[in-house]
Amino acid sequence: MDTVELTLSVPALGHDRYIGLLDDRATGFRQTDAVLVAYVPVDDWSADAREALAARLRNDGYGDALSLRLLAPRNWNAEWESAVSPVRVGPFLLCGTDANVPPEHDDATVLRIDPAQSFGTGHHATTRLCLQLIGATVASGDTVVDVGTGTGVLAIAACRHGARSALGVDTDVRAVENARAHVRHNGVSDRVAIRKGSVEAVPSDVAADVIAVNITMRPLRSMLPALRSRLAPDGTLLLSGLLTSQRSAMRTALDNHNLIPDTETTEDGWWAVHCRPRT
Ligand SMILES: C[S@@+](CC[C@H](N)C(=O)[O-])C[C@H]1O[C@@H](n2cnc3c(N)ncnc32)[C@H](O)[C@@H]1O
Repeated sequence: MDTVELTLSVPALGHDRYIGLLDDRATGFRQTDAVLVAYVPVDDWSADAREALAARLRNDGYGDALSLRLLAPRNWNAEWESAVSPVRVGPFLLCGTDANVPPEHDDATVLRIDPAQSFGTGHHATTRLCLQLIGATVASGDTVVDVGTGTGVLAIAACRHGARSALGVDTDVRAVENARAHVRHNGVSDRVAIRKGSVEAVPSDVAADVIAVNITMRPLRSMLPALRSRLAPDGTLLLSGLLTSQRSAMRTALDNHNLIPDTETTEDGWWAVHCRPRT
């Protein structure tokens, strides 16, 4: 499917409110000090959505700040691939399927990820925050669930870090295909399964030791009861995809669902949290 690339020439301090406006539609964001770029599948974009965004920009004094470009699937692909250079996150090194591993990363657990059309290359802070938490949390023999698996990176990382098994689910059929290819390519087909769907596609009696979720606030909040019920009593829920400005609302939602935040981390205005069930 084609993707609409929205470029908002707005200083970084103002990005949060536009990310909040677009986060139900966008499959990804890119930020620099002076520009916010959002990627929206063409089927999720409309004249009304464009007018709502343009009106907000006008109200905020950025009347000329919006430009749009249609990216054909092939261009989108190439754009991501050209951006892929090795990324070190804790014990993991993420690099393209054919990239050489630099000698200074000889000690790393190498994850081979080519992005195609999915999110999860390690080039976004939300993925890195989750990978750091996985590196610090997943123990040998764990059962792991990854909701919104994208490239499959978190499920693959968990198993390469010692998990006994991981199940990744994603509502986007392209992500499912992409994740399955990565599972094969990283040699973890015996331990990682990928299914199309959301948290409901995860068996309700799974009792996962770790559940990782890197998606936007609205869907994340609505799936908290289903996530909690799939967590082992001493399990860990890792949440990413949240802005630091959403921290307080998310902490309230966690409390309402008897989940206790433990460790919190931030990067580039994104917030991730490690929680456990209240007993
Ligand atoms: C931000 S990406 C995260 C990808 C990867 N897990 C990572 O950490 O980089 C979010 C993914 O969640 C999927 N997604 C969005 N809403 C979802 C939902 N309600 N249930 C399952 N997957 C969802 C999207 O298709 C996308 O692949």
